[in-house]
Amino acid sequence: MTDITSQTDAALAAIAAAASLEALEAQRLETLGKKGWVSLALKTLGGMSPQERAAAAPAIQSARASIAAALDAKKAALEAAALEEQLARETIDLTLPAPAVPKGSVHPVSQVMDELAEIFADLGFAVATGPEIEDDWHNFTALNMDETHPARAMHDTFYFPDKTADGKDVLLRTHTSPVQIRAMLEQGAPIRIIAPGRVYRSDSDATHTPMFHQVEGLVVDKDIHLGHLKWTLETFFKAFFEREDIVLRLRPSYFPFTEPSVEVDVGYATEGGRRVVGGHGDAPGHAWMELGGSGMVNARVLEFAGLDPKQWQGFAFGLGIDRIAMLKYGMNDLRAFFDGDPRWLMHYGFSPFDQPTLSAGVGARA
Ligand code: DAH
Repeated sequence: MTDITSQTDAALAAIAAAASLEALEAQRLETLGKKGWVSLALKTLGGMSPQERAAAAPAIQSARASIAAALDAKKAALEAAALEEQLARETIDLTLPAPAVPKGSVHPVSQVMDELAEIFADLGFAVATGPEIEDDWHNFTALNMDETHPARAMHDTFYFPDKTADGKDVLLRTHTSPVQIRAMLEQGAPIRIIAPGRVYRSDSDATHTPMFHQVEGLVVDKDIHLGHLKWTLETFFKAFFEREDIVLRLRPSYFPFTEPSVEVDVGYATEGGRRVVGGHGDAPGHAWMELGGSGMVNARVLEFAGLDPKQWQGFAFGLGIDRIAMLKYGMNDLRAFFDGDPRWLMHYGFSPFDQPTLSAGVGARA
């Protein structure tokens, strides 16, 4: 009896003194564990006569109950203390500035494509698309460049080793003009589309990259003439550059897919080392800069696209998107467009909230 009482007092003192959950667990094993003295004492009850058991059991059971209660209470206290200590350690200083979060921006090429779509949509144009992996029939033949046409060689084309099922060469499109063919074959006439997108040529220096962007324009309807082309381009450039003094010069040229063909020049002045569009190119301090090619759709191209050239006429144009983006937003090295340098993107990129609209401005910058 006295033995159990003193052993229990010692255990309760040790439990009270346990400084950690590990020390407490050691106490539990020593007492209530399988080989702990309380468990062993309980086992001895089985071998006792009923009288002996009635005399011995209450002391052992009360020892077990008080030790178990002490273990539970101490465990809860130690866990609460550990949590307190952790909470005290993990404080957050809310007066510190928020950590820098990487921020994305809209690439100027994407922004300009949105601007183009906004302006041309207002003129009744839909946006058409075509594959970047093209076949030579859409990229060349249907645009009036047969196998022997010298213009094919001038395009520095990237060819794939494969051929299409029907034996056509497979290539990366060298211009957006094949979308003209696809759109006419799909939609017929009348048609009014622009087709912005990536094009590829094996060419690389400060002003040429192997991948760049063009926008194609195509209008086919009845009684379309060169005057419609000039008005459309002028109206577009005035809206795009957000100035009324845009002067265009259409210079006779040659493209296999247009007849007649013209190159489109815009007047500009150099201000502070930067080219600023506006004014007549022959005026003092001004010059002309080429922005793209255009012309009346060649009758053969209409035929390839399944339209009767006696019934339908049209004009087409192709502009370099990167070029007009550089002119509008003042970059001078094309290669930086495709380096993916976050500093360049932060500087020249746009906020996704800066959606171009005709009413708020197609070049608004926050
Ligand atoms: N596809 C031509 C090129 O990449 C540009 C071009 C010129 C497109 C005249 C046209 C056009 O639609 O009419 O060099």
